[in-house]
Amino acid sequence: MTPDTVHAPYDSGMRVYRRLLAIAFLYWPLLLIATVTMMVMALTEAGFAALMKPLMDDSFGEGGSELARWIPLLLIVLFAVRGFAEFGSTYSMRYVGRQVVKHLRRQLFERLLVMPVQHFQHQSSGELISRLTYNVEQVANAATDGFSVLVRDTLTILVLLGWMLYLSVSLTLAVLVIAPFVVLVVKVVARRFRKISHRIQGNMSDVTHVTQEVIEGHRVVRIFGGEAYERERFDAINERNRHLHMRMEGVKAAYVPLIQFIIALVLAFIIWTATSDVLGEQVTAGTFVSFLTAILLLLTPVRRLSMINATLQRGIAAGQSIFAVLDQEAERDAGHTPMERARGSLRFERVSFRYEPQGPDVLRDVSLEVRPGESIALVGRSGSGKSTLVNLLPRFFRPTQGRIVLDGHDLEDLRLRDLRRQIAYVGQNVTLFADSVAANIAYGRMEATPEEIRAAAEAAHALEFIERLPEGFDTQVGENGALLSGGQRQRIAIARALLRDAPLLILDEATSALDNESERKVQSALENLMQTRTTVIIAHRLSTIERADRIVVLDAGQVAEIGTHDELLARDGLYTHLYRLQFRESEVV
Ligand SMILES: Nc1ncnc2c1ncn2[C@@H]1O[C@H](COP(=O)(O)OP(=O)(O)O)[C@@H](O)[C@H]1O
Ligand SMILES: [Mg+2]
Repeated sequence: MTPDTVHAPYDSGMRVYRRLLAIAFLYWPLLLIATVTMMVMALTEAGFAALMKPLMDDSFGEGGSELARWIPLLLIVLFAVRGFAEFGSTYSMRYVGRQVVKHLRRQLFERLLVMPVQHFQHQSSGELISRLTYNVEQVANAATDGFSVLVRDTLTILVLLGWMLYLSVSLTLAVLVIAPFVVLVVKVVARRFRKISHRIQGNMSDVTHVTQEVIEGHRVVRIFGGEAYERERFDAINERNRHLHMRMEGVKAAYVPLIQFIIALVLAFIIWTATSDVLGEQVTAGTFVSFLTAILLLLTPVRRLSMINATLQRGIAAGQSIFAVLDQEAERDAGHTPMERARGSLRFERVSFRYEPQGPDVLRDVSLEVRPGESIALVGRSGSGKSTLVNLLPRFFRPTQGRIVLDGHDLEDLRLRDLRRQIAYVGQNVTLFADSVAANIAYGRMEATPEEIRAAAEAAHALEFIERLPEGFDTQVGENGALLSGGQRQRIAIARALLRDAPLLILDEATSALDNESERKVQSALENLMQTRTTVIIAHRLSTIERADRIVVLDAGQVAEIGTHDELLARDGLYTHLYRLQFRESEVV
């Protein structure tokens, strides 16, 4: 499946719903309990209507019968049974619902961990996160509410209709004639509700969006004098929000009176039918009241049942977006060759790469041989493909052509876990986890001892600032290390890489956020590390580049020059040009 099909609708609605139900049916004993208790509930509804008949016919009027004296007790028993049944069905359905939520969340999370890196580029993180949080809830609601309504309300309606037929066939038939009309009105109103509330949702996301931009971009807004523009934009959205809400309120305010009026109409119709002679049938007070009660009890389940489709459709739409993620293939891991610890000889054989099938070649025909323990500096203009080249090593992306060989094995033939174990990586954008400093350094080697962590921090020149933190190594760094400066974060990332002690070291502008002073210190730590490892280093500072064993100059995805610093300067090519630029810049600084 290509990433594009991720957004394509998944199959038919029915298939999606069946797939959801299949998850719910994993908990079938609870569904069974729910069904039985719902049946009991349906019977108690009819029981309540049935009680009305002896109450009216026997208790009032001339002399109470024996049965009538039991009515208060029966009423209490009836509602006690009903209470237990309602608790049982609600609780067991909610139980199933929460299990479905947990089940889907777990599967989605699992997917995120194995999803190919390129798929992250096609989906915004917000979208993926909302699937895991919001859509999952909707799906569970649809699966369980849908089930509840279908089972409970259908049963209730059937039982009540049965009772009504028992009371009076002709009266029931009369009601059935006008029922579709009532359902129609309710449906029209409900559709209107949905339409407006849908628009309100869209408008709310506009409100959020504009506000978010103003908050996050507040400096740009202020400097570029964008206040008036933002104000105008916001006013329009805000007014639309008010307008939509008022329309919603209008429909809502009209809804209850409308429904009440319809009920009055139905009542009037039934009273007229029952009291005039049209039916040609005698109706007692008890029959009449019991019949009316049954009709009133019918209203709620009929309304719910007529709106079930909307709930199901929402759930199915949410389910489609979830299954689209779940059905994505995992990262390709077809290799079977195990690898303990690589010696670290690397060979790029005519490697070409493009991100998109129709896109331009970002790397073209790159061939390069790196000896174990050698350090290679990648140099080139911004956008020349340096980061892309190193991202091929952990197989985040696969070469479009050619291959990369580690210790004589094609990377594709290695087990993914084994391959990635050989690599330590420090990038420009450091990722820290909302955990302690120590846990962040030990990430990827959880079994490291405190002494090892400390030694790594020291080598990365991180110890000096860690010891000044309020709780030292136990200090929480905040979300993505928000409480640390850029340079501190990079030093923690470097300590993490040092601790990992892998034979391949990749540094992609790893020291860019450090000031000259700390960079020099970290540099010496990195040099120690580089001596025993194969290193690919992307750096813009000359001091770093000069010390590499060889320098590879990339230009528009192609290898332009390879050699030592002195050799390349002697050639007076692209490297010399870049060198002069850099030299001038550092003079200015
Ligand atoms: N994830 C991506 N998807 C599509 N194109 C990309 C992606 N990352 C980088 N590119 C493009 O690939 C080229 C090389 O980028 P990169 O390897 O990041 O360059 P460098 O690290 O040398 O600055 C650039 O033209 C860039 O626009
Ligand atoms: Mg880069």
